[in-house]
Amino acid sequence: MTTHHFLDLDDLKPDMLKKLLVVAADIKKNPANYTDKIKGKSVALIFEKPSTRTRVSFEVGVRQLGGNVITLLRNDLQLGRGETVADTARVISRYIDMVMIRCYEHETLVEMAECGTIPVINGLSNFSHPCQIMADLLTYQEHRGDIAGKKVAWVGDCNNVLTSWMQASGLFKFKMHIASPGKLCPPADVMEEVRALGADITLSENADEAVKNADLVVTDTWVSMGETNKEMRMKLLRDYTVNDALMKKAKPDALFMHCLPAHRDEEVSASVIDGPQSVVWDEAENRLHVQKAIMLYCFGLL
Ligand code: CP
Ligand code: NVA
Repeated sequence: MTTHHFLDLDDLKPDMLKKLLVVAADIKKNPANYTDKIKGKSVALIFEKPSTRTRVSFEVGVRQLGGNVITLLRNDLQLGRGETVADTARVISRYIDMVMIRCYEHETLVEMAECGTIPVINGLSNFSHPCQIMADLLTYQEHRGDIAGKKVAWVGDCNNVLTSWMQASGLFKFKMHIASPGKLCPPADVMEEVRALGADITLSENADEAVKNADLVVTDTWVSMGETNKEMRMKLLRDYTVNDALMKKAKPDALFMHCLPAHRDEEVSASVIDGPQSVVWDEAENRLHVQKAIMLYCFGLL
């Protein structure tokens, strides 16, 4: 039984990512077939930042698979008083069978994986959010079928959620057009990395161009957790709200996605997020199903 980490989408081969979506769909349809898959296993969830979806869906998901779950906020741990990540990893590996971490520095995840002896799942870092994009891909597939060859428009801030979307572009073979103020566009090394994975990405400052003929329009908060330059971001992004006028420029059957939490009338109008093209509640639900599949993969059970 080979265990695995789930730190970023590009750690996995496209075939395995697709298999995870197939398993997630089956878990969603037949949850009773999976109730004792991780019986006797203990999973720790460590949060350096707040969370609603990730915390609740992982806690419920572990229990639904028959495992035990322990949730630890940063200040519950000696990590909050300066114990190193490496020592924390070594110690919890003696008690726990798997850990999911939401952290600031991506390096924390990597160090946890390197210094511990148990699988590590990325529950969001400043760099990426792979569990979210797996849920989004499952959601797209449920509503519109295969995403290969489709056009995804990202409008707004370029953040951790976008990194995982960009990695998915190459792995799942869809096009992306990102519209963002030049000052906030993804770093050159990240662009190089995702293009090496085969990502087909156009970058511009023009939201109208980005959504033209898009099959899916995606946005996220303008101020991610840990960002300090709120005023500057709000000013730079004020013309990047996904509203009805912008959605009209996408394909008539385009979907709208947002990982949540949302800020109505900042990055998205209430009419769009609460409107008929929005699939945000399905995305949130699918976190549960897809993460159950991810945990089975990490335990070497797929
Ligand atoms: N989308 C997402 O990860 O939400 P939470 O911050 O509530 O976990
Ligand atoms: N980009 C957001 C995602 C929240 C789930 C953040 O990092 O705050």
